[in-house]
Amino acid sequence: MLNHRLINPPREPEKFVKAAITFLQKYAKDKKVFCALSGGIDSSATYLLLKEANINTIPVFIDHGLMRIIRGVEERENIKKLFPEVMVVDIRDKFLPKIFGEEDAEVKRKLFKDAYSDTISKVIKEEKCDLLSDGTILPDIEESFGVKISDLKETMSLKEEISLKNKNIRGFVKSQHNLDIEYDVEATVQPVASLTKPEVRKVLEYFKMPNELVYRKAFPGPALSARIIGPVTSENLKFEKKVHDIVESTVDDYYTEKFGKPMIINDKGEQEPFQAFAATTTDVLLRKVTGMINGQRTYEVPLSIKGEWDFEKLVHFSSQIKGYARILYELYESHEGIYDVIIRSINSIDARTASVTNLPIDLIEEIKYKLLEIPDTKNIYFDITPKPPATIEYV
Ligand code: XMP
Repeated sequence: MLNHRLINPPREPEKFVKAAITFLQKYAKDKKVFCALSGGIDSSATYLLLKEANINTIPVFIDHGLMRIIRGVEERENIKKLFPEVMVVDIRDKFLPKIFGEEDAEVKRKLFKDAYSDTISKVIKEEKCDLLSDGTILPDIEESFGVKISDLKETMSLKEEISLKNKNIRGFVKSQHNLDIEYDVEATVQPVASLTKPEVRKVLEYFKMPNELVYRKAFPGPALSARIIGPVTSENLKFEKKVHDIVESTVDDYYTEKFGKPMIINDKGEQEPFQAFAATTTDVLLRKVTGMINGQRTYEVPLSIKGEWDFEKLVHFSSQIKGYARILYELYESHEGIYDVIIRSINSIDARTASVTNLPIDLIEEIKYKLLEIPDTKNIYFDITPKPPATIEYV
């Protein structure tokens, strides 16, 4: 199998789209292309480019049951609204029992990777697709290969790539689910491989997509399992979906009211907020969560602090931590309820580093009161740790 990536295209959206059309027609003209839509901006832009290039494409959404709910609407409904022609493949009954109870972060990632690749292979076979197109973007490639995109050629074989990856093993940060899988297709086509997230958003704006998609917050491949610390159960999944929606929508509303859109580019060039979400678990202070030291992932317990809310001081303190993966500012302590909730909102350029969003304390308090309306909420924290030394997600 070959991988074709559009390398070093022009950055201005109109010129980029033209270059992407030429690229897609070069490799995918008269072929049938499988394209997985995840609900995120990268795969949406990929699909729109395929449509613009008049490529015969099968858009597929895999519903594994761990996608977020946005304003009470499940992701599969959101995606059907945006792309009514999407084929929804429902694997919930098969996938959820496999992941329930699994504790290990890399095993959770592997389960997703396997579920995606099995489902994709099945549809590719049934639909007799020749090619696969996906929304791999620049940071995905650089984190998984440990090399710069400029070290890749437009067309490479999987074998060539694996040997390149093995040579750069120290640059590896984490396994991305959409790289290094061999499908029964002639090749993959990756039109947005050289783009950063803000550049992908510009492409979506060029296609006049609604703000809710253009400014959609990044969401990890392993979905809510990256935000449920420890084993996923049907109960904590239901809870996580509710609290996640509260945090993401309330932060969205605040930005939309203040700036007319749910995300801005701040004076550091970061997308603000890049991600806003809730993580959950029982007894978070006893759980090992991920951190990042010298580019390597670490697993340590978090430390909780309380007291006066002084954003700058708290973030400065958290950026110096040693021996803990992150610092959680305690907003509410309870002896009742089941699940601790951690509110996380970060700004970032490309997810490789992140700063904590300076949300007004009144907004954080508003989120806290909304969370307390959900039965089973126990302690509530706000994560005040930048990346590094923390990671964005918890597993
Ligand atoms: P971390 O937690 O490593 O996250 O600071 C960096 C960015 O990557 C997303 N993320 C993932 N995306 N597969 C993915 O496709 C994964 O296994 C994965 N883990 C984290 C995360 O949401 C953030 O944007």
